[in-house]
Amino acid sequence: MTSPVILVTGGMGYIGSHTVVELQQAGYNVVIFDNLSNSYIEVLDGIEKITSVKPEFVEGDITNKCDVEKLFAQYTKIDSIIHFAALKAVGESVAEPLKYYRNNVFGLICLLEEATKNKIKNFVFSSSCTVYGQPDFLPVDETAPIKPESPYGNTKWVCEEIIRHLVSSGAAMKAISLRYFNPIGAHPSGEIGELPQGIPNNLLPYITQTAFGIRKKLFVYGDDYKTPDGTCIRDYIDVTDLAKAHVAALEFLGTNISKPYDIFNLGTGKGVSVLEIIQTFERSCNLRLNYQIGERRDGDVEQVWANTNKASTLMGWKAKMPLEETMINAWNWEKRFRNGETSVKPY
Ligand code: NAD
Ligand code: WQD
Repeated sequence: MTSPVILVTGGMGYIGSHTVVELQQAGYNVVIFDNLSNSYIEVLDGIEKITSVKPEFVEGDITNKCDVEKLFAQYTKIDSIIHFAALKAVGESVAEPLKYYRNNVFGLICLLEEATKNKIKNFVFSSSCTVYGQPDFLPVDETAPIKPESPYGNTKWVCEEIIRHLVSSGAAMKAISLRYFNPIGAHPSGEIGELPQGIPNNLLPYITQTAFGIRKKLFVYGDDYKTPDGTCIRDYIDVTDLAKAHVAALEFLGTNISKPYDIFNLGTGKGVSVLEIIQTFERSCNLRLNYQIGERRDGDVEQVWANTNKASTLMGWKAKMPLEETMINAWNWEKRFRNGETSVKPY
């Protein structure tokens, strides 16, 4: 590879694979580094079907210094890193906090040590709206108080701070933390999408699996919240829109010289309730979902949605995909995957 290379850690995962597609379509060369702990090698074929280019792939672990050193020795033209690799299950992080601090925080440190040694110019970090907990004011902007409520959420905040401190120490690296709200959907081609292991924690895969008959019934976690229909409100962002924001972030880092570190919310700016999600899914996909109102889930925040002005003003990025289309893409992906039509086969 002669032109600049983007290293995408965790690039075989849900958001990473969609971002690799957008990067390749924007003309970037990509190297994926992933330990496949929550993804499948066949994702490479899915990416190739969409872009006609199979990205370079190195199997390795960010917490293993040898793996990371070897990676930079093999690819000497890496100039930017997009860092997705992390564990993300909130409940598991409460049960096994050290696993999360080791993978997410120690892993980031290993990666940053090699990144600085190798004079990497730009670093984009996957953070989360979970760092806000339940915000006092909505829509929440990037200046809101930080109050992560789980070890997972705290790893995201600690990582943001590590990056900020590194950049302010005079390292020749610029960085951005992107706080994603609730990513949903799948690529419109139906070639890549979300691949949760076991029973999904997240709403959309639970809905599509219920619609396909893998789960009997969806439980709506509480309808006695102080929201218009009583169910929780989130900011659901289409995964392709989210992926495109990473291309915008790299372009922003390349041209912006005034501020070496910044933070951006990535959401739609609109709050949608659980019942509205179910109704939109039913309407868009023309089917009925078996669901029932259940108990509240421990640890759920009542409502959160993003103020996205900063990303649109400074990076020129805005979410565009209508929610109906996102639902159709998610359903199309679930059906294709379950019917064995995608590169990754049902497991
Ligand atoms: P994912 O699990 O689908 O992808 C993460 C990828 O990282 C997987 O392919 C996994 O194999 C890899 N990985 C994990 N630990 C690794 C390690 N030690 N070394 C190398 N590879 C490793 O998750 P995702 O939904 O695509 O999330 C990507 C990033 O976005 C994560 O950092 C996550 O915390 C963040 N995020 C996700 C959401 C969400 O709801 N999906 C919301 C906010 C933030
Ligand atoms: C959405 C809404 C549930 C499942 C999680 C992480 C957060 C971030 C995004 C990574 C909630 C309701 C869900 C079900 C339901 N990830 N629900 N029945 O909890 O907003 O955020 O993913 O950073 O850190 O916590 O997303 O998809 O789990 O839930 O009623 O079977 O759907 O109560 O209101 P959440 P989710």
